[in-house]
Amino acid sequence: MKKIIQLLICLTSIVIPVAANGIKESSTPQIGCAIYKFDDTFMSGVRNSILNAVEGKAKITIVDSENNQAKQNEDVELFIKLGIDCMILNPVDRAAAGVEIDKAKASQIPIVFVNRQPFVDDMEKWDKVYYVGARAKESGIMSAQILADYWKTHPEADRNNDGILQYVLLKGEPGHQDAEQRSEASTEYLKKDGIKIQKLAEDTAMWDQVKAQEKMASFLASFGNGIEAVIANNDDMALGAIEALKADGYFSNNKYMPVIGVDATAPALQALQEGTLLGTVLNDAHNQANAAVNIALLLAKNEKIDSVSIGYEMEGHYVWIPYQKVTQKNYKNFLE
Ligand code: GAL
Ligand code: CA
Repeated sequence: MKKIIQLLICLTSIVIPVAANGIKESSTPQIGCAIYKFDDTFMSGVRNSILNAVEGKAKITIVDSENNQAKQNEDVELFIKLGIDCMILNPVDRAAAGVEIDKAKASQIPIVFVNRQPFVDDMEKWDKVYYVGARAKESGIMSAQILADYWKTHPEADRNNDGILQYVLLKGEPGHQDAEQRSEASTEYLKKDGIKIQKLAEDTAMWDQVKAQEKMASFLASFGNGIEAVIANNDDMALGAIEALKADGYFSNNKYMPVIGVDATAPALQALQEGTLLGTVLNDAHNQANAAVNIALLLAKNEKIDSVSIGYEMEGHYVWIPYQKVTQKNYKNFLE
């Protein structure tokens, strides 16, 4: 008898959880979300906004792909095994999105990609695939406009008086659409605007503040006062550059360097307030996350997706959230 009871307890403890998982609560959609790495300032903002947007509307599992595409492939497989209704993916390597799409299609689980744009050919593999992001080129142009305004109104910025803007470029991750297009668009804009420019040095700091500080310190060691501006593909790298500049005596005793970034993260707004960062561009984490979640919820329920149903303008399977210039004039509007 004792044995039978023990066996029964054992069986029920196995059976009950299986039953609880097996019966799908049809009204609550399940979303699986993988972020390329949690340790990224801007993506942490997107992640928090995704959590807020989902609250009360769906169950979400968010995982850290730890900057490792192989890990993310496993994350995707796990989501598929769990039988979730939709995925929100921020690829580690955007070239690997095609493989993720193949897997999702085979198990009929739609995907909304964010922040790292899959190649067009991959996007076209299946009609239940969407992308929410921002037009990288636009941010390059806006940050260049901020720098151009400064250059034109501050003749002393041309330290060596040669009529040429000597700058250094801190690039994000090579191959990332934002790194490539921001770099290209900002320099193209300056040229079109009639500003003579000369790139003294360029290096990638992989979106990272500490790496950018090191790179900037070595640029300063090589070019010293010859540098007249710093263009950074994101705020973390701009802030790293500012640290290196501070250590070199800048931002005190009238020694100034125009530094521009992108994202408008909280620490960047603080730097604007302190007068170290010249300007940045809002990369709108809140609206990117909202649009992605709205699409994911509709996909999960197999409902119609268009500009009206998601509340954001769509262009085919893409949603482009606009950037905004952030300078001394308006940064206060963006403080939380
Ligand atoms: C960019 C952002 C960077 C970094 C990157 C990650 O849009 O400006 O700061 O977060 O995405 O993919
Ligand atoms: Ca000059």
